[in-house]
Amino acid sequence: MILVSKEKHIFHLSCENFSYVLAVREGRLLNLYFGRPQPAEADLDYLIPSFYSNSSFEQLEQHLPLELPSAGTGWYGDPALQAIGPDGNNITSLKYQDYKILPHKESLEGLPSTQDPAAETLQIHMKDEYTGLSAVLSYTVIAGALARSMKLMNGGSAPLNLTHMASAALPLFGRDYEVIHLRGAWARERRLVRTPLGQGTYRVESQRGASGHEENPFIALVRPQTTEFSGDVYGLSLIYSGSFLAEAQVGDSDSLHLSIGLNPMTHRWLLGSGESFQTPEAVLVYSADGLNGMSHIYHVLYRDYLCRSPWAHRERPVLINNWEATYFDINESKILALGKKAAEIGVELLVMDDGWFGNRYDDHRALGDWYENPVKLPHGLKGLAEKVNKLGLKFGLWVEPEMISPDSDLYRAHPDWCLHAPNRPRTLGRNQLILDLSREDVQDFIIQMMKHILSSANISYIKWDMNRNMTESFSALLPPERQLETQHRYMLGLYRVLEEVTSAFPEVLFESCSGGGGRFDPGMLYYMPQTWTSDDTDAVERLKIQYSTSLVYPASAMGAHVSACPNHQVGRVTPFRMRADVAVGGNFGFELDLAKLPPEELATAKAYVTRLKQIRSLTARGSFSRLLSPYDKESVYGGNYAAWQFVSDDQLLLCYYRVLAEANPVTRRVFLTDLDPQAIYRLEKTEDLPKGLAAREFSGAALMQAGLPMVFDQPGDFNSRTLLFTKVR
Ligand code: GLA
Repeated sequence: MILVSKEKHIFHLSCENFSYVLAVREGRLLNLYFGRPQPAEADLDYLIPSFYSNSSFEQLEQHLPLELPSAGTGWYGDPALQAIGPDGNNITSLKYQDYKILPHKESLEGLPSTQDPAAETLQIHMKDEYTGLSAVLSYTVIAGALARSMKLMNGGSAPLNLTHMASAALPLFGRDYEVIHLRGAWARERRLVRTPLGQGTYRVESQRGASGHEENPFIALVRPQTTEFSGDVYGLSLIYSGSFLAEAQVGDSDSLHLSIGLNPMTHRWLLGSGESFQTPEAVLVYSADGLNGMSHIYHVLYRDYLCRSPWAHRERPVLINNWEATYFDINESKILALGKKAAEIGVELLVMDDGWFGNRYDDHRALGDWYENPVKLPHGLKGLAEKVNKLGLKFGLWVEPEMISPDSDLYRAHPDWCLHAPNRPRTLGRNQLILDLSREDVQDFIIQMMKHILSSANISYIKWDMNRNMTESFSALLPPERQLETQHRYMLGLYRVLEEVTSAFPEVLFESCSGGGGRFDPGMLYYMPQTWTSDDTDAVERLKIQYSTSLVYPASAMGAHVSACPNHQVGRVTPFRMRADVAVGGNFGFELDLAKLPPEELATAKAYVTRLKQIRSLTARGSFSRLLSPYDKESVYGGNYAAWQFVSDDQLLLCYYRVLAEANPVTRRVFLTDLDPQAIYRLEKTEDLPKGLAAREFSGAALMQAGLPMVFDQPGDFNSRTLLFTKVR
């Protein structure tokens, strides 16, 4: 709901989760409140600072709750907006002009964004009368969240150099906040960091030309007492796949400023007279119900209002990917042998990973040469796909279209198609260079190439990989004054390519990947409903990775595979059940050579696949909550346990894990959440129901308030259980 008080110049956006209140004073746009819902008639104008009667007001802008902190007129922190004019000064002082309420939400030109045709949008128009720079700030309340973006227009006669253009900024009040974000590295993505904020600036960022393994485009502020189940949470997430900056600036007063958007270190934009620039969309979430409360809102929003693929709500096929089974050593008969075994245990999709094209025998060559290697695939993709289909499996394919190997026919034909700076060495990463997707001819090449591949054979799934970050982010086609636009132009080019390819093949299931989860972000989810979560397939490591990824992203977005033992990344040996029970937390698959499994394990795998097909609608559409944190070293559980649950209208799946065995173990309880207290849930009777747990009925209230004992009846380390309940009334 959007309420406007014209006399008081107050805007009140609200829904059942929050109120967001803006006021205009002396041309400045102030943020008075973001938090628990306030009554529509709530009069919050007493919160407007009284500085206005003070003659020193102009010096006090730094103390104002500015919605758009800008450079040069008394805001001393990092600005959300800065434009440098032709005279060299950076003063950027936009004043309120007027507002508009649209009966819908507009798509952002060239950029992914959430969609809801029925949602109203508040647009606030601001303008700097000295330069002619104007901004339209857009606000849409959508599925319990607030989507924001900014469009800049140069109405003056001289070009302006945009150096800062955040998607959203907002002040919050009080000093006792902790910041949460998802930090990591390759194969250790999105580890949960929670730390108190002190005076100064806390930055969460990427300058890599991808959202990156190291940080995720997400930041949240919580109170020290906030838990998974209760307390204030303010989340900011950016729908973008390139370099970004999220920051919390804590000043010397009782307020702080949060912002998220393009990274000023890597993104500049020359805005010519009459031109406009659209920022990516940021999504703000407030939850009074702890971190699970925030996650529930992001999950529904990103699954139902962001992902455009018809697969967004569908149950995903159980897949097998050959990568860890064979690496580059593939050919038609090896792939078919894997497929034959996979079909026997009920797998539905066979994915051929890297190594099928050009001269690709290792990672030193052939990226760009997207035609079948005739020795490995004598019957081409078409012939292989037909044979795979005959086994009763769908066929999927790995590609890495944004890349080019120096040793490739494509590079020999187009040496200027990669990102590079003239007369400087071209820095290699994984022996490869990056195609310059800011160029239209390069975009067209990729679009044609992908359309050709997808039309050439019966391909049901694509794993779209991207295995290195940008260096020399310059383009052969841009003039010097626009070179720092290359990274953003690349992203716009990538989005154009993804738009064309995914909309031409809507029935193909696309999974994005970037050396695992190096581009696990909402921007990619708009086009591709799932992402390969991490190259680390070890079940114990995955507990942490999947647990914290779920802070923002739904389980339906995460690829999770049972891999071989000893695990290829950490050498750990875990039982099949633990590996499978962890993979249930995402889109389930296998990443191993089934022919090497002992017969009993193959039979277990088959039984597991059968059961999985009964519960996977929960991963696809259920409501996911975290119950016990593998990060929680402080608790009695010592981080040795993890638990989560999925709930739908008629089913409940409880998954719990114990990493290391304990002497004289105490039976601990797990407390479920988000259930109907009146409802009755019947525990499914399975052959391997842990001893001590009877297949009986439980009330929702009992499961939440009295809890359920976590029974582990297998000896040794790495124990787990997934218990399925049916809601009987
Ligand atoms: C990346 C992916 C892997 C695999 C390899 C192939 O590392 O994350 O899953 O596809 O590339 O080269």
